[in-house]
Amino acid sequence: MNYSLRRQRLLEGLEDPSFVLIFSGKAPMRSADEAYEFVVDRNFFYLTGIDRENMALLLSKRNGVCHSVLFIEPYDEMLARWVGGRMREEEAKEISAVDEVRDIRDLDDHLVNLYARGLRQQASFPVYFDLWRQEAEQDRTPGIDYARKLQAKYPQIQVKDIFPALTSLRLVKDEKEITAIRKAIHRTRLGIEAMMRSIRPNQNEMQMEAVFLFSLMQGGCRDVAFHTIAASGERATTLHYSDNDQTMRDGELFLCDLGATESHYCADISRTFPVNGHFSDRQREIYDLVLTVQKKVKDAARPGVSIRDLQKLVIDFYREELPKHGLYKDVSEYYFHGIGHHLGLDTHDVDGGLGLILQPGHVITDEPGLYIRDEGIGIRIEDDLLITEEGSEWLSAEIIKEPEAIEAFMKR
Ligand code: GLY
Ligand code: MN
Ligand code: MN
Repeated sequence: MNYSLRRQRLLEGLEDPSFVLIFSGKAPMRSADEAYEFVVDRNFFYLTGIDRENMALLLSKRNGVCHSVLFIEPYDEMLARWVGGRMREEEAKEISAVDEVRDIRDLDDHLVNLYARGLRQQASFPVYFDLWRQEAEQDRTPGIDYARKLQAKYPQIQVKDIFPALTSLRLVKDEKEITAIRKAIHRTRLGIEAMMRSIRPNQNEMQMEAVFLFSLMQGGCRDVAFHTIAASGERATTLHYSDNDQTMRDGELFLCDLGATESHYCADISRTFPVNGHFSDRQREIYDLVLTVQKKVKDAARPGVSIRDLQKLVIDFYREELPKHGLYKDVSEYYFHGIGHHLGLDTHDVDGGLGLILQPGHVITDEPGLYIRDEGIGIRIEDDLLITEEGSEWLSAEIIKEPEAIEAFMKR
């Protein structure tokens, strides 16, 4: 789906008239004159295909007519010589296919004029902002800030949240998005295989992270989907361990949870393999349990079920099976996270809650694990699934996970 079609679909679901204003964001400062790496607002990117700072997208719908204006920083020759050029108007227009490009410094006036004109025709109508926030106490995002500023000046303005409408759109991936996720997965595969080839007892976990990053960058990918988890032995029983700085011992398992990206679309993969290339009998026993339930989840994942149903399947399976393997405590002692989440422009992508019914085009992860701290065993196997009309498809089938295949690969 192209960007103008996405914008049109978004506006179709809103009242007439209405406005939508979305910001690309700005990188916060890291030290005196250096900023953190800029990470574009995912909703802005979804609607424009542009990943530059300090831009805003204004959409309007009036009398059934949709209009899009992209506000950008003006091109600056001196800045271009120092840090590279800002985007020129023509390029911004070509990528995003917006109707108009304007100077970001004119945003306030433009919006106020538009709104005043609209008000003359209608008593009140909504302006939508992205009001989503990660934590209840996080009260500053560009959307929230701007909405507040506007409302302070024009108390009659109806501020509404565009995030739910964007969530509905982003949940269902189109062909272009699925192709990007597949590419991110392929890059991740190459990185994992490079790790499997180079891992040796007494190396440091950090070396594995370096091998992964090296492989990604060699393949032209600088951005990881999230901080790489490279954990051996007992460290693998900590879900989001990311120190990655311990020595990997002979006889331990190594767990990696990582992902490359492509055009900001994420892969999210976990694999667990032996540091010395051979599973012990006990490691293999536990690995097989995780792999078995992971495949059951894939078989059950289809339109009409929810991620909550899949989680229940895993817990029921473990409740039945774990005692047969000497694991007598409550399942939550060995498996204490969710079975998966939606995947897309964010690793933990927009979702509609655990009870949301899956439908074709959704992409989710399938990531059961078992964590037995007193045995120093942490195993997670994570693949990415596309929900199809008939059921689901492994998007990451190319990344080996059968224990025999892993051992054979590591022997080479
Ligand atoms: N890597 C984070 C997750 O699997 O959810
Ligand atoms: Mn993961
Ligand atoms: Mn995940």
